Amino acid sequence: MSPLSGKNILLGVTGGIAAYKSAEVVRLLSAANASVRVVMTRSAKSFVGPLTFQALTGYPVYSDLLDVDEEAAMGHIQLARWADCLAVAPATADFIAKMRAGLADDLLSTLCLAAEVPILIAPAMNRAMWSNPATLENIRVLAERGIHQLGPATGLQACGENGYGRMIEADAIYQAIQSLLSRKGSLQGLSVLVSAGPTREPIDPVRYISNRSSGKMGYELARAASEAGARVSLVSGPVSLPKPNLDAIVEVQTAAEMYSAVMERARTSDIYIGAAAVADYAPIDADIQKIKKNDPSLMLSLERTPDILASVAAMNPGPFTVGFAAETESLENNAKKKLESKNLDMIVANQVGGREGGFESDQNALTVLWKDGQVRFELAPKKQLAHKLVELIAERLQYSRNPRNE
Ligand code: C5P
Repeated sequence: MSPLSGKNILLGVTGGIAAYKSAEVVRLLSAANASVRVVMTRSAKSFVGPLTFQALTGYPVYSDLLDVDEEAAMGHIQLARWADCLAVAPATADFIAKMRAGLADDLLSTLCLAAEVPILIAPAMNRAMWSNPATLENIRVLAERGIHQLGPATGLQACGENGYGRMIEADAIYQAIQSLLSRKGSLQGLSVLVSAGPTREPIDPVRYISNRSSGKMGYELARAASEAGARVSLVSGPVSLPKPNLDAIVEVQTAAEMYSAVMERARTSDIYIGAAAVADYAPIDADIQKIKKNDPSLMLSLERTPDILASVAAMNPGPFTVGFAAETESLENNAKKKLESKNLDMIVANQVGGREGGFESDQNALTVLWKDGQVRFELAPKKQLAHKLVELIAERLQYSRNPRNE
């Protein structure tokens, strides 16, 4: 059976002369029993008629974001959810710039924003447009965001020039989609539990104690683990991030709620990643009524919250347990102490309050430590770091189960 059998592939076609080659991509994918739906931009239709794609896929071609009939057939969010992968071939310089900017002014660009599945682009444009610093920078940024890039190839171009910018051949695009969708992830068959975000500890009905965690790192880790083939459950404190497409998301507010949600699921998980910034102290008996400002000073009595990470690490048998250490000083020393005192399998240390990203930032630099080793990941987007961390966790887990394999 073809690895593409039963897979749903959304093919975006933008306005370049290479659009005629996309028909061959569709033919190859359909012949491998994939279900293909095509989305065309308005300018793509100047190069190839939608009827060509409709005949090859057996589905109407989508192109308008606000078309009542198209939305009634399958709304744009549904279409994004339907897909196992989104490939844009050809991807023009203009469309690549739009993706980089995150615009959503037509159906295809909206789908690129809404899709939570792997996205591939096959750039196609004149060689000068390709080597323009603006295009190269757009491509670099998209690569950092995890967009897969296929080509371009070099050779004679439709404009008569010679150089990089030709769309790679249909067969190479087909092969790339097949290899992406048949990839056996490093966490295939495993279940991963991730906790992310801050907690809120109520003082009274309107006030709480919290911290500056955005939840970004934990959310990226949950996504990366899922892309590596794991079944992922996320226990999340209050964050303002879009919900990833995972097996389960449990929303909590307080450290006590997070403790219960994590403990309930940890025993049946292979890996627990405690990326949440759990409050260490919570007010004893939050006031039922809003505290009035009658007194010149006010004392709050706090008590320790349960240490979720240490409790999971103490389970026997328990999951492979990964903790985080956000430190403002003596990064490695403090992280090493935490690794030992909490009996963790691995700890991910990051400096907060400095130039290296950390809370609220999209990037970070990390030092990862385990019993007899450590590695440093230099400043990079959290998405990229998440993938590296997941690969490292998969490797260490395999080693801890089978130490002679190293
Ligand atoms: O000891 P410290 O709070 O610095 O350790 C940080 C690590 O411990 C993080 O992985 C965090 O998710 C976890 N933690 C926890 N429960 C707490 C406090 C921290 O799981 N009450």
